[in-house]
Amino acid sequence: MRRTLIAGNWKMNGSLASIEALIAGIKTGLSEVDKADMAVCPPFVYIPRVRELIGDAPLALGSQNICDQASGAYTGEISGAMLQEFGCRYAIIGHSERRSLYGETDALIAARFAMALETGITPILCVGETLEQREADVTEQVVGEQLDAVIERSGIESIGQCVIAYEPVWAIGTGKTASPEQAQAVHAFIRGKLAAQHAEVAEKVQILYGGSMNAGNAAELLSQPDIDGGLIGGASLKADDFLAIGKSA
Ligand code: 13P
Repeated sequence: MRRTLIAGNWKMNGSLASIEALIAGIKTGLSEVDKADMAVCPPFVYIPRVRELIGDAPLALGSQNICDQASGAYTGEISGAMLQEFGCRYAIIGHSERRSLYGETDALIAARFAMALETGITPILCVGETLEQREADVTEQVVGEQLDAVIERSGIESIGQCVIAYEPVWAIGTGKTASPEQAQAVHAFIRGKLAAQHAEVAEKVQILYGGSMNAGNAAELLSQPDIDGGLIGGASLKADDFLAIGKSA
């Protein structure tokens, strides 16, 4: 039985003051979340402070990216070893904002993924189609290729050590959520594609949904057989909303 994971992607939001209030708020309600694991992914600079604020609360920490290299002349990048020092368990990789706004290619994302695994950090690998691609009926092809880039580099077994997040680009930050049926169909496609190569990996891997998931729509999405959690943007910035999503698991 796969555990449910609810991870907050704070993106480039927050301040020292606001993250203190947010973590305090989340901690007050964590004991009522019994069917889901919870994680937060702050901007890099806040990771040390969030680590302190979490203390020994059952809240995992993740980053929003990770360098594909171990160390050296890579200005602006953060290595897996550095993230390890601050107790990061997860690293979001291949978010659509990284792909579209910062030009990250499938090859670079596959390299970042490989380095995360090498440094003992669990990648949260994001995949998803744009509205144009959905309307052109190439969603499965696009998502399939995004997965293949990683599988070709790191092997099918590596998928058993990661978390996948299906995030349709048209649903991110738009308030336009994929319907539970739309999301389930893509999640089932992903699991089926993996199963064709490795049944155990397909059965084990957590596949999260992301894209305007909130306290109101989470329960229905999470009740789908192949949706194992959520990667939450906007709603993860409000403690009550984030906790409510955790409780609806
Ligand atoms: P929203 O929940 O704000 O739509 O963002 C989703 C997302 O991109 C999480 O990574």
